[in-house]
Formats: sequence, structure tokens, C-alpha cells
Amino acid sequence: MGSKVEFLAVIVVCSLFVIAPHVYAKISCEQVTMLLTPCIPYAVFGGDVPPACCSGIKESLALVKTTEDLRLKCECVKEGAAGIPGLNYTRVNELPAKCGTTSPYLVSPNTDCSKLKG
Ligand SMILES: *[C@@H]1O[C@H](CO)[C@@H](O)[C@H](O)[C@H]1NC(C)=O
Repeated sequence: MGSKVEFLAVIVVCSLFVIAPHVYAKISCEQVTMLLTPCIPYAVFGGDVPPACCSGIKESLALVKTTEDLRLKCECVKEGAAGIPGLNYTRVNELPAKCGTTSPYLVSPNTDCSKLKG
């Protein structure tokens, strides 16, 4: 009995190690978009920064581990921002500071994401 449970535990732990790098090595655009969606009302209309926006920004910054992640996230934010009518880029770029953090790049329609280094 005991050894069967142990055997299963070993399988579970091993598969976590096998699966995890594929799941977490690269960030996905959907992930970033989901985290930053609460920021859209502030970016368009101003007012108070929603707490969900700040936590989203911080989580999305924490996701970036490599240069590749950074470029992917930058492209994703740039494309996402381009699709939002009335978006105020000044306010978008104020957000990290308002949330007490810093972003490694400015969001603008002209940002060259391929030049960023993580
Ligand atoms: C964008 O936001 C900034 C800072 O809140 C504000 O000064 C500026 O007038 C806004 N621009 C537009 C086009 O609404």
C-alpha cells in the first residue's frame, strides 16, 4: 500500500518537472492581455487606477524572465493598445509609477520591441 502511494507521488512530481518548463518558459499574449485588461478604463478615461490593474501590471512584470519574454510582452501590449480606441498613451505610461513599480519600456505605437533586452 505505502509503496504504491509513494510510486504515484514520484510520478506526479516527475511529471510536474517535465510539464512545467513547457508551460512557464514562455509567457503568452493571452496571459498578458488578461492581466492588463483591468487597466483599460484608466488608460482611456483616467480617474482612479483600479487595484486589479496594479496587481496585473506587477504580475505581468514578474512573468518576464528573458529577453524573448520581454519582446513578446512588448509586442502584445503594443498590439493590444493599438486596438483600443481613445487610448491615452500618456496615461498608459504613467501606470507603472502609479502602481509603485517600473516598466522596462514605454508603450507607444512606435516602440521597437525587437530592440529591447531583458
Ligand atoms: C492624456 O492623459 C494626460 C495625463 O492624464 C492628459 O494630460 C492629456 O490631456 C490626455 N490626452 C488626451 C488626448 O486626452
